[in-house]
Amino acid sequence: MNKLLLSSIILILAASIFLFSNQSWSETKFIPLGVAPIIATDYIHSVIEADRTIYSKLIVERLGDAISLKATENYLQENTLPLPAQFLLLASENVTSQGLGMTYRLMSLWPINPQNGPNDSFEEKGLEAVRKNPNKPFTTIFTSKGKRMFKAVYPDKAVSKSCVTCHNSHPKSPKKDFKMGGVMGGISITLPLGQEDLIPAKVVADYIHAVIESDRMIYAEYVVNRLQNNNIVNASEHWWKDNKLLLPAQFLLNASDIIAHKRMGLMYKLYSPWPINQYNRAVTKFEQQGMEVIAKNPKETFIGTHEVHDRQFFEAVYPDFAVSKACVSCHNSHPDSPKRDFKLNDVMGGIMLSFPVQ
Ligand code: HEC
Ligand code: HEC
Repeated sequence: MNKLLLSSIILILAASIFLFSNQSWSETKFIPLGVAPIIATDYIHSVIEADRTIYSKLIVERLGDAISLKATENYLQENTLPLPAQFLLLASENVTSQGLGMTYRLMSLWPINPQNGPNDSFEEKGLEAVRKNPNKPFTTIFTSKGKRMFKAVYPDKAVSKSCVTCHNSHPKSPKKDFKMGGVMGGISITLPLGQEDLIPAKVVADYIHAVIESDRMIYAEYVVNRLQNNNIVNASEHWWKDNKLLLPAQFLLNASDIIAHKRMGLMYKLYSPWPINQYNRAVTKFEQQGMEVIAKNPKETFIGTHEVHDRQFFEAVYPDFAVSKACVSCHNSHPDSPKRDFKLNDVMGGIMLSFPVQ
C-alpha cells in the first residue's frame, strides 16, 4: 500500500516535471534567436548616421549661417561647436568605455588628420568599395585574440554643405573638390561575433542603445550645457525660428524619425511618466511595465517580444538619466513639467527600442 502511494507520488511528480519542462520548452521555443551581424551593423550605422546628419545640418550648418557660430578644432577654448568628426569620436570613445566589445571609427582615403586614414588593408579596400558603390557596406569576418569578429565599412557622405565647404577649404585637406552628397570617407563598425552566426537580440539592443545614449550625452554635455553656461546660445523648443539649439529630446526624436522613414524595422522613442509634452508618455502596456521596472532598478533593462503579422519583434526599455545639469535645470523650471525635483543622474524617463528578430 505504502509502495503504491510512493510510486503514484513519483508518477505524479514525474508527470508534472514532464509537463512543466514541456511548458517551458514551448515558451523558450518562441524566444527569438537574434539578428544577423550585417543587420546589426545596419541598425548601428543608421543611428550614427542620423545623429551625424542632424548635428551637421541642424546645428553646425544652420547656426553657422544664422548666428555665425562656428565648428572648430579647439572648440573648448574658442567657445564654438565641436567638429562633426570630434562629436563622432567623443561618442565612440564613450561607447568603447562601456566595454560592450563594439567599436567604430571615422576614416577616409583623403584625411585632414593622417590618423584618420585606413588602419589596415581591409579598411583601405572597404573605403575604395563604398566609394564606388555607396549602396552596399563592405564586410568581413576575422579572428582577433581568438575571438570571431564582424567588421563592416559604410560610406560617410557629405550630408550638409558644411561638410564640403570646410574640407575643401581646410589647409590640411589633400582633396579640395568634395561635392554635396558625395562619399567623403567611411565609418567602420566592429562587433564580437561569438560562435553563432546570429547575434543575440539583447546584445544588439545594447549596441544600438549605447550609440543613442552616447550621442545624447555628448550633445547635452559638450554642446547644450557648455554653450548655455558660456552664454553663447541656448536650447529652445522653437529652435528653428529662434536660431537656437535643438533640445536634447528633439535631437533624439528627429533622429528616430529619420530612422523610422528608412523602414528598416528599427524604431525607438523617448518617453517619461512625467512628460513635459503629453505626447511623450507610455503608450503600450510594455512601455508602462518597462518604466515601472527601470524606475525602481535603473541597472535593469526591461525586455520582451511581440508579434506583428507573423514577424517577431524584440523590445527593450532602458533608463534615460539626467546626464547633464542642463537636463535637470530645464525640466525643473519648465512650466509644463509635472515634476520639479529632478537631480543629476536621476532616471528622467526611458528609451524604448524595437526591431525584428529571426
Ligand atoms: C568646420 C569644419 C568641418 C566640418 C563642418 C566637417 N568636417 Fe570633417 N573634419 C574636419 C577636420 C578638421 C577633421 C580632422 C579631425 C581630426 O583631427 O581628427 C575632419 C575629419 C573628417 C573625416 C575623417 C578623415 C579626416 O579628414 O581626417 C571625415 C570622413 C569627415 N571629416 C567627413 C565629414 C563630413 C561627412 C562632414 C559633414 C557631415 C564633415 N566632415 C564636416 C573638418 C570639418
Ligand atoms: C532646454 C530645456 C531642456 C533640456 C536642456 C533638456 N530637456 Fe528634456 N525635454 C524638454 C522639453 C521641452 C521636452 C518636450 C519636447 C517635446 O515637445 O517632445 C523634453 C522631453 C524630454 C523627455 C520626454 C518626456 C517629456 O518630458 O516630454 C525626456 C525623458 C527628457 N526630456 C529628458 C531629458 C534629459 C535626460 C536631458 C539631458 C540629457 C534633457 N531632457 C534636457 C526640455 C529640456
